Amino acid sequence: MPVTGTRTVYLQTFGCQMNELDSELVRGQLAALGYSFTPDADAADVVLYNTCSVREQAENKVLSRVGKIGIRKREGARVVLGLIGCLAEREGTALLRRFPQIDLLCGPGELDRLPMLIDNALKTETVEAADRVALAGNRSRRTATLAAAADNLELLDLSRAFDPDGGGSGGSGGTGGPRRSAYVRITRGCNKFCTYCVVPFTRGAEVHRPPDAIVLECRRLADGGVVEITLLGQTVNHYLYTHGVAMGVNGQEVPQVGPGGSAFTRSGGPRGANGRRVTTFADLLGRIHEEVPSLQRLRFVTCYTRDFGDDILRVMRDCPRICRYLHVPVQSGSDRILRLMNRGYTSGEYLEFIDRARDLLPDVSIAGDVIVGFPTETEHDFGQTADLLGRVRFKNNFIFKYSPRPGTTAWDRLPDDVPTDVKRRRNNDLLALQAGISAAVHAEQVGRTVEVFVEGVSRKGASRAAGRVELGWERPRGRIQMSGRTAGDLITVFDLPQDGKPEMLQGRIVPVRVLRASALVLFGRLEAATLPPAKQPAAVHRARPSSGITQLEIS
Ligand code: 5AD
Ligand code: SF4
Repeated sequence: MPVTGTRTVYLQTFGCQMNELDSELVRGQLAALGYSFTPDADAADVVLYNTCSVREQAENKVLSRVGKIGIRKREGARVVLGLIGCLAEREGTALLRRFPQIDLLCGPGELDRLPMLIDNALKTETVEAADRVALAGNRSRRTATLAAAADNLELLDLSRAFDPDGGGSGGSGGTGGPRRSAYVRITRGCNKFCTYCVVPFTRGAEVHRPPDAIVLECRRLADGGVVEITLLGQTVNHYLYTHGVAMGVNGQEVPQVGPGGSAFTRSGGPRGANGRRVTTFADLLGRIHEEVPSLQRLRFVTCYTRDFGDDILRVMRDCPRICRYLHVPVQSGSDRILRLMNRGYTSGEYLEFIDRARDLLPDVSIAGDVIVGFPTETEHDFGQTADLLGRVRFKNNFIFKYSPRPGTTAWDRLPDDVPTDVKRRRNNDLLALQAGISAAVHAEQVGRTVEVFVEGVSRKGASRAAGRVELGWERPRGRIQMSGRTAGDLITVFDLPQDGKPEMLQGRIVPVRVLRASALVLFGRLEAATLPPAKQPAAVHRARPSSGITQLEIS
């Protein structure tokens, strides 16, 4: 039996939205067992880092914290230190040898076993190494069918669906207020094997959740007051569930292994599966829109250019509460580099997709990811990426310097031959180019009234320049500024009216007149003549730093 009581946990999350959602599930699971959470790592009985492995820098951030806890432990502090997530899975037990202060490791595919690991670590310090780790290794890929059928993680996702009023995701302390924006996973893992990426190794084979479970989870969240849901998957448009293949003991459909790109025709539409009924991503979006009418916004990330059919674009066009926002990483504008990355499309095909999307959804807002300094990238290749940015006119781009990752094909076969200073320069050049494009895209909104989902009071820190790129965002003294996002994911700030309270607006969608714009932010004025009544006051929390802002931090 797990130890229950008043043990306190500090949980810090690094990395992507999947990690944020995982942390939320961990939080719910541990809270149900009687653990409480603290925002102070020094005051906690258990310190958990939910780690990211996608770039070396992300790993180093965690490892420096691990080092600090090692010092505390050598000075006599009694604290259980656990690493969960992708770094734990990627490095495995080697981490325990390198950092003896780590008490437990738990991969992202084994999170249902975390309470048992914590329990073991709290009970005894001499617990066997085998009882301190829960890692998938490459088991999940070798036995993907079994892994999907006996998917304990599904229980974790489902148990969360029963608690829509739990604390918000991410962060270390939890806000305690009802959630207004939530993530819902539709697939786990990835079958793509881009040559630079660790995700297929750390999160395992692609597994697709049953549509009924997803719709039910969305409905419960919306019933609990959630206004906006973001569906999560590494390549969401690959979602494809074949019905009638496998049922659980209770007669419910169970998660199943994803077919990946092989199930899609070149033009994007999925193939039928031996005459069986399938639910495609477009079907899933349509179902959620139809069956959860109280949900005001539905989003999804991340898209994969190839296999993105017009059926999805048409559902987006026809369903007004589906946000016209696409996050479609391009990674490079050079066909040679795209081939080396194993991306499976050319820059021309990427542009065709963008044109197709804009034909059907003229007001669609598009964000991307780009890697600079991939092995063998020349100035010519880089120039092609810069040209593509100009063509696409992304509203923002997440720009990364290539970071070689052990275990990936690129690590094994392609020497990291672009010097660090060249990577840095290309990174800064693209950031500057994108800042100009983003400024123009944002400026188009000036004079319009936009619907803003209010996330919270804008962060004071955001008024400073991020890196060397000016945000042009100074919070006037003595006034409270609220921050939120448009349906197209444009960050919007506006002053709270004199007679207003933040909780009257937080978690609501309000009309804002856009007065001016910078590269990252729209500045506006609340249109409503009167403030809406505070029906269900939510705990006020600071808006999380926008991903756009973090990307502009120049290292
Ligand atoms: N180096 C740099 N960037 C990477 N990404 C993934 N792996 C690496 C790597 N090894 C970026 C890609 C991906 C985003 C989540 O992270 O752009 O889309
Ligand atoms: Fe990584 Fe490629 Fe999968 Fe994205 S699609 S998670 S970049 S392997």
